[in-house]
Amino acid sequence: MNAAIRGVVRAALGRGVEVKGFYHGYQGIVDNEIIPLESITVGGIISRGGTILRTARSKSFMEAEGRKKALRNLTENGIEGLIIIGGDGSLTGARKMHEEFGFPVMGVPGSIDNDISGTDMCIGFDTAVNVALEAIDRVRDTAYSHERVFVIEVMGRHNGFIALEAGLAGGAEAVIIPEVPYSLLQICDSLRNMYDRGKRSSIIVVAEGAARASDIKEFISRTTGYEARYLVLGHMQRGGSPTAFDRVLGVRLGAFAANRLLSGFSGEMVGVDGTKLVSHPLTYVLSTQRTVDPEKLLLVDVMAK
Ligand code: F6P
Repeated sequence: MNAAIRGVVRAALGRGVEVKGFYHGYQGIVDNEIIPLESITVGGIISRGGTILRTARSKSFMEAEGRKKALRNLTENGIEGLIIIGGDGSLTGARKMHEEFGFPVMGVPGSIDNDISGTDMCIGFDTAVNVALEAIDRVRDTAYSHERVFVIEVMGRHNGFIALEAGLAGGAEAVIIPEVPYSLLQICDSLRNMYDRGKRSSIIVVAEGAARASDIKEFISRTTGYEARYLVLGHMQRGGSPTAFDRVLGVRLGAFAANRLLSGFSGEMVGVDGTKLVSHPLTYVLSTQRTVDPEKLLLVDVMAK
């Protein structure tokens, strides 16, 4: 998200427009936690994960009263447009500001879950996948040497984008995601088949929205008798220095959002379609479900044989 903040600030300044930031997301607008964002403020932040503006989940902004207070603060501070970086909740808030008050807003998709429609990639997803991949690669050494089954739980809230991408990249023997029904008995059968073919270790990647890694590990060791371990990656996936891909994506989307807002567009979210920059109405983005590519899950199975 820092790369996107940098993109917004420097693109707007380049067009002679002053930029302010609010700490703690919508809560910061309600509480008027405003700071000037100058070119120097965003210097050296492109390599840092998270957001220099910090963030929060705001209960008061969900109430009409809180949003009115936010609008008052925006107006009193002379704010003429708002760029919101975030996931589903953040974009829903942006749509409300646009629909209820006609306030100019532009959304930027930021979520490691990658579950936002209207863009192929959300800021943070690639970094999260690469963190998960590094964990898979490291764990594989123990799995191989000790001939064990490892179950690795990754984030993703209600979807399996991180699990599928990291699992495919890491050569996982199975990937379990919430979008597709799975059978643990079938997974145990294929582990046995692999064992019979001489493959004595395996890695199963499970998305947090599908099952708990600890439960799967228990089931597998009880059913097969193989030695198994589990690992929950958790918030490791949300931090650390962003990948080159995420930095470029953040800067491009941030600058594009600023330029689009300054050109008079509103109520949209910017994104990428392949490598092309695009922008879609927030109504479309928030009413469309983004789904995983089932072909990738099939490929995991084919590759595991
Ligand atoms: O939406 C991003 C995400 O990291 C999910 O993948 C995860 O389920 C959730 O946030 C964790 O939220 P929290 O940090 O509040 O526990």
